[in-house]
Amino acid sequence: MRPLAQKSGGVVSDQGGEFNFDPEDFERIRKLIHDRAGINLHAGKQAMVYSRISRRLRERGEQSFNKYLKWLEAARGVEADAEWQEFVNCLTTNLTSFFREDHHFRLLATELSKRRGRPTRIWCNAASTGEEPYSLAITVAETLGTNADVNILCSDIDTKVLSKAAAGIYAADTRGLSTDHMHRYFLKGTGSNHGLIRAQANVRKFVEFKQVNLMDAQWSLGNFFDFVFCRNVMIYFNQKTQREVLEKTHRAMAAGGLLFAGHSENFAESRDLFRMRGKTVYERIG
Ligand SMILES: C[S@@+](CC[C@H](N)C(=O)[O-])C[C@H]1O[C@@H](n2cnc3c(N)ncnc32)[C@H](O)[C@@H]1O
Repeated sequence: MRPLAQKSGGVVSDQGGEFNFDPEDFERIRKLIHDRAGINLHAGKQAMVYSRISRRLRERGEQSFNKYLKWLEAARGVEADAEWQEFVNCLTTNLTSFFREDHHFRLLATELSKRRGRPTRIWCNAASTGEEPYSLAITVAETLGTNADVNILCSDIDTKVLSKAAAGIYAADTRGLSTDHMHRYFLKGTGSNHGLIRAQANVRKFVEFKQVNLMDAQWSLGNFFDFVFCRNVMIYFNQKTQREVLEKTHRAMAAGGLLFAGHSENFAESRDLFRMRGKTVYERIG
């Protein structure tokens, strides 16, 4: 693929690439992913979209973006559902790390110790490849012990990252995990698994994985959550979608529950639902 040429209107044309990729293709993809996942792709994402979707076209033996998109827009049934999932998986951004924004885990530990002896439900709803859920599980184990009555529901729209999260296998030099946590909560790979670590049963026991699209009109997730980690996903949504997700989150939470947001996410517009409790932490009102 040759470098994409930026047109004056801010739209990219890739006449020299493997596949023709014109402004209409980008606009169609933008609409499809927005309607399905709530994700807003701005004009600067054209090269990223070309690179990720053209990989998919190659895998499927497609001739053009136009043909592929036409099929996706019209197709129904099992094959279409599977391809829609691939399409979504291609376009999510999954950056994460262990104990990212570690002040949240310190606050969670304080709050968990106040709930000692009471069953507790946590929802990590943009769990990506699992570093965040296992950081939550380690915090639970360190604060309340490995027999605590705590359940952590870990969800994401992207099935590929969810499988990785469920496998719980990471590089041994992964960022954010202390040597102490690694020794206590992970097994070291040997032989062909040298250089890898795998989450042990003492943290796995707290986590369960399920695909949830935050855009779905209704979530059926069982009992109310005491803590919700919804971090670094709302940045991809517009204000209307953010508000809808916050309203559903409010309904899914227990009275006085805490909502943890990402470092650049601000829910001050929804002060009728949540009040500030600390840096990017909100308490459910009502
Ligand atoms: C940047 S990662 C954030 C990971 C983690 N929460 C963190 O803060 O490190 C964003 C995640 O949101 C997920 N995501 C995007 N749109 C979503 C949606 N509509 N429903 C559920 N998850 C979504 C992506 O698949 C991705 O794994």
